[in-house]
Amino acid sequence: MSRGRPAPEGDRYLFPREPRELDRLDVQHYALREALGANYLAPLRHPASILDVGSGTGRWACDLCGEFPGALVVGFDLVPGRGDRPVNYRFVRGNVLHGLPFLEGSFDFVHQRLLAASGIPLTSWSGVVGELVRVTRPGGWVELVEVDPWLEPAGPAGRQLFELAWKLGRSRGIDMAGTIFRSLDLHLRRAGLMDVARHEVRIPIGEWGGRIGSLMGSNLRALFAGLCAPFQERFGLAPAECCQLLTAMQREWEELHSAGPFAVAYGRRPD
Ligand SMILES: C[S@@+](CC[C@H](N)C(=O)[O-])C[C@H]1O[C@@H](n2cnc3c(N)ncnc32)[C@H](O)[C@@H]1O
Repeated sequence: MSRGRPAPEGDRYLFPREPRELDRLDVQHYALREALGANYLAPLRHPASILDVGSGTGRWACDLCGEFPGALVVGFDLVPGRGDRPVNYRFVRGNVLHGLPFLEGSFDFVHQRLLAASGIPLTSWSGVVGELVRVTRPGGWVELVEVDPWLEPAGPAGRQLFELAWKLGRSRGIDMAGTIFRSLDLHLRRAGLMDVARHEVRIPIGEWGGRIGSLMGSNLRALFAGLCAPFQERFGLAPAECCQLLTAMQREWEELHSAGPFAVAYGRRPD
């Protein structure tokens, strides 16, 4: 990492560890919650214990604390999120690539969102899903949410910026080709889950898409603004040029009515 706090050991997170990255993740959370109409899609009854792997700012976990005030909600991440927390929230620091520090069958619901294109290498994906399933109690649910890192449709500036991001991700072993996105449900089935379901949503990006589009546009603008420093370091892209590309990409997504494809997959651990 070039700026912000030093990265924890084993951290492959693509984005700068800065306060504005936390703001971006919160904006993204609000956009996803609104686009999906819910914080999760699995048919939960009354979960007593919930785990969020790669909890980021902790915003999703705090929403779940409110929805299930009787449940214990655990956020797990390489780095802590924001400060104030509900009484039924706990944070556990760790690296999912080293395994989860919980006993088998500890949680009624295990959730993991947006780690494929930001932290978990393709080669580790099956092992990580296996860990999520291991800590889920029989009859409990696992839910995964991922994005295909691409704009549909994209203009020339968008294409150029995404290609740089793909190159950066690939150099860290991160799946930038949407392989995990496409096989989310397959991974859950392979890990032994049943009643597996998959939903895909195309979320608008830009003012043309109303409130959700506007939130997603802010998210994507902030995401690429955070990548301008690594783009300069790795590929020699001047900050002014990066800025121009960003402005052009925004214009393109308004003209082309671009959207981002997200997938949600969930499944139940057999009793
Ligand atoms: C793109 S953010 C998504 C945060 C949150 N899930 C959300 O949807 O708002 C990815 C998060 O995963 C965390 N992360 C990345 N690699 C990780 C790993 N190996 N173990 C634990 N957390 C990880 C990052 O620190 C970051 O907070």
